[in-house]
Amino acid sequence: MTAPATPPATAAGGPGEPDSVSSPVSARVTDELSALIHKAIQAAGGWLPFDRFMALALYAPGLGYYANTSAKFGAMPGSGSDFVTAPELSPFFGRALAAQVRQGLQASGTHTVLEFGAGSGALAEQLLDALGDAVQCYQIVDLSGTLRARQAGRLARFAPRVQWLDALPEAIDGVVLGNEVLDAMPVQLLHFDGAAWFERGVVAEAAPGTEAGTGTGTGTGFAWADRPTTLRPPVEAAFVPGTVTEIHPQARAFIATLAGVLRRGLALFLDYGFPEAEYWLPQRHMGTLICHRAHRSDPDPLADVGLKDITAHVDFTGIALAGQDAGLEVAGYTSQARFLINCGLLDLLAGASVAQRAMAQKLITEHEMGELFKVIAFTRGLDLPPDQPLLGFAQGDRTHRL
Ligand SMILES: C[S@@+](CC[C@H](N)C(=O)[O-])C[C@H]1O[C@@H](n2cnc3c(N)ncnc32)[C@H](O)[C@@H]1O
Repeated sequence: MTAPATPPATAAGGPGEPDSVSSPVSARVTDELSALIHKAIQAAGGWLPFDRFMALALYAPGLGYYANTSAKFGAMPGSGSDFVTAPELSPFFGRALAAQVRQGLQASGTHTVLEFGAGSGALAEQLLDALGDAVQCYQIVDLSGTLRARQAGRLARFAPRVQWLDALPEAIDGVVLGNEVLDAMPVQLLHFDGAAWFERGVVAEAAPGTEAGTGTGTGTGFAWADRPTTLRPPVEAAFVPGTVTEIHPQARAFIATLAGVLRRGLALFLDYGFPEAEYWLPQRHMGTLICHRAHRSDPDPLADVGLKDITAHVDFTGIALAGQDAGLEVAGYTSQARFLINCGLLDLLAGASVAQRAMAQKLITEHEMGELFKVIAFTRGLDLPPDQPLLGFAQGDRTHRL
């Protein structure tokens, strides 16, 4: 997701606006979700590691942020949405990405695309429109049942080529995609006090006169609590006292699992983040954990659970290593701007209106999504001539920086 966007020139109900399957979420959802998390804290002995808190806050069935019926994606706060993603911002995102997907399908000799975390279905729609018969089977894996319903409504005209999977297939031959999926995976939080490292977890907020973290569920809110840990960031750096940062074992495990089933094809992940040498710089001593609600960001995931997104930037070095260690080739890494321009975005925009260009420009402008967002590509068994690298990484590849 990106910073609050200026209103698009499209009318309400156009790209980026929530569809009829979404509806406002009531305070009841927060109350029920809070009660569920309090139970989990109690069951865990009074202290829940943050990654488990985040998993419940985002994905608890029917209640978590991604599992409830709120609008989530959209370009304008007035629509009830919380943030905008690239395919919601401009259909030219998917149209440009289609060039890389087409090359991946041809080089793998397949007609299958598998998208993780398809959100509102915007990217799937753009790709299916752009790629036509080149895609015979578009598979979606999404943790959220309500989002699946939204995707089904939006993609009805492509049936029966679109399928929803409950689990990963035993083998994947084709092109795998994930836009802003890795940043939505739960992270563990670490705190360095200048002498020792602690894992940061969540306890029940103390009711007046009681002690927080006793596991008795006294308060209705949540509070932070640290425990000594042997966990460490993956780099040795001069961490400043008071550093709070995050590590990403779930995202790495996800990539390793994918590597175990990707038999032949290309996997592309687009997201905001950095290589590890930039991730753990002293200037980021407060980490990258952030919440999004109504197109505003805030640093407090413990408040208003279920009503806001919780996210952390992606450690692309960790992602690359997870894929490589599991046998994939890291075939490219670059900025979103470079990738989309390499894929022909500027040519595609030649016939676009001024309003369409203005929105698409945000995908590549350095201070919007162009530089913070990156694209990483993994391949296995692709039939690509040595003089024909992956299209999106033909110029400006930064794999050496990982
Ligand atoms: C920030 S949204 C991005 C949605 C969409 N890709 C877009 O760009 O608009 C994150 C999405 O990832 C999904 N998600 C998170 N973890 C997932 C996982 N392990 N497998 C499949 N989907 C996942 C969420 O349910 C949600 O649809």
